[in-house]
Amino acid sequence: MSSVPSSRLPGYPHIAYDDGSLRVEQASLADLAASHGTPLFVYSKAAMLSALAAYQRGFAGRNAQICYAMKANSTLGVLQVFAQAGCGFDIVSGGELERVLAAGGIASKIIFSGVGKTRAEMQRALAAGIGCFNVESEAELEVLNGVAVAADKRAPVSIRVNPNVDPKTHPYISTGLKGNKFGVAHEDALRTYQRAVSLPGLQVVGIDCHIGSQITEETPYLDAMDRVLDLVASIEAAGITLKHIDFGGGLGINYQGDTPPEADVLWHKLLAKLDARGFGQKQLMIEPGRSLVGNAGVCVTEVLYLKPGEQKNFCIIDAAMNELPRPAMYQAFHHIAAVTPHEGSGMVYDVVGPICESGDWIGRDRELAVAPGDLLAVLSAGAYCMSMASNYNTRGRPAEVLVDGATTHLIRSRESTEDQLRLERLVG
Ligand code: LLP
Repeated sequence: MSSVPSSRLPGYPHIAYDDGSLRVEQASLADLAASHGTPLFVYSKAAMLSALAAYQRGFAGRNAQICYAMKANSTLGVLQVFAQAGCGFDIVSGGELERVLAAGGIASKIIFSGVGKTRAEMQRALAAGIGCFNVESEAELEVLNGVAVAADKRAPVSIRVNPNVDPKTHPYISTGLKGNKFGVAHEDALRTYQRAVSLPGLQVVGIDCHIGSQITEETPYLDAMDRVLDLVASIEAAGITLKHIDFGGGLGINYQGDTPPEADVLWHKLLAKLDARGFGQKQLMIEPGRSLVGNAGVCVTEVLYLKPGEQKNFCIIDAAMNELPRPAMYQAFHHIAAVTPHEGSGMVYDVVGPICESGDWIGRDRELAVAPGDLLAVLSAGAYCMSMASNYNTRGRPAEVLVDGATTHLIRSRESTEDQLRLERLVG
């Protein structure tokens, strides 16, 4: 990104320069960094709610349940925003279940996804009374049945089907193709449903599909919907009623000029397909993660050193692949903006963290007019950053602040080294 910012950052309506310094809603990032230190995650509540509103507009007048895929950002204060807005949650572990309950989420609005649920996780989720298990294999179906029978309960289930559609995204986050570990193959789906209805501990309630993440085109969704509706028709023709259709998440966001469809526009088209096939009355569920939180968050970081070199100039910052893992993992792009820009054209830098790996880069070939001590904001950092943060190099995880207009809430304190050492024991 150029070092000369306009007052608005295109694509980030809740993040703007005011009086020469970057703000999230009405909160100054420089002030927040001064109070809480860096690296620091800052989230806009209004940005989350406006992303949610696009889905709500798309579903106006429909029987639909939006289940926030909390793996994108599972901090309690963020979950609270969505719970208070009426969302359910898509979880993938027992830990995520406890987080939803701690944040005031309603158990009956929880769906449990994932290929590797343990018996203990199933028992806990059944006892809590979750809304649906999205089952990903026949083997899992049998185990869940056993767990439910032993608990004298019936587990509500959907079967996740793999529609074999290319979502045209990074291979690590593509999930709906035949070679992926996810879901039951299209051709095996009917047989799996027939098995499910024969098991006494299960109650079939729906069908589920999720084809991948950071999807920026509508065609994969439209194709997947056709494939899923073909299955709904054949499953119902076999006498098995499906109450709901869960169409997963995956809608992309703008990182680098990406232009994903708007949620309401996409759903207008998908709902037209449902209506045309006569399934418009069924309950709809979706599991969006990134598109609800990704562009609501920034990571504020301080420039530690500038290191000019023969081939590259390095701008070394105090954030790293611990808290911003996406460039290292997926060669992902995040915009980087000066919090309080200087005049002048600057230099081209690779922006890197302090971790002892060459993979620890945050941005490559960025033009920045910066000096040590300056603050930078790494944008689009609301999703899959803090929730994937690690303690590599014994670095503590950052603090997080939720901004609501002019009010700021510290929703997570910075992790201390003491916090990190607490679970460890010396030998003897
Ligand atoms: N439902 C299921 C079953 C999923 O596996 C996922 C994401 C979602 C919903 C939410 O997808 P979203 O709306 O957020 O795209 N760490 C990667 C993304 C991994 C996505 C995993 N599954 C990244 O940083 O790009």
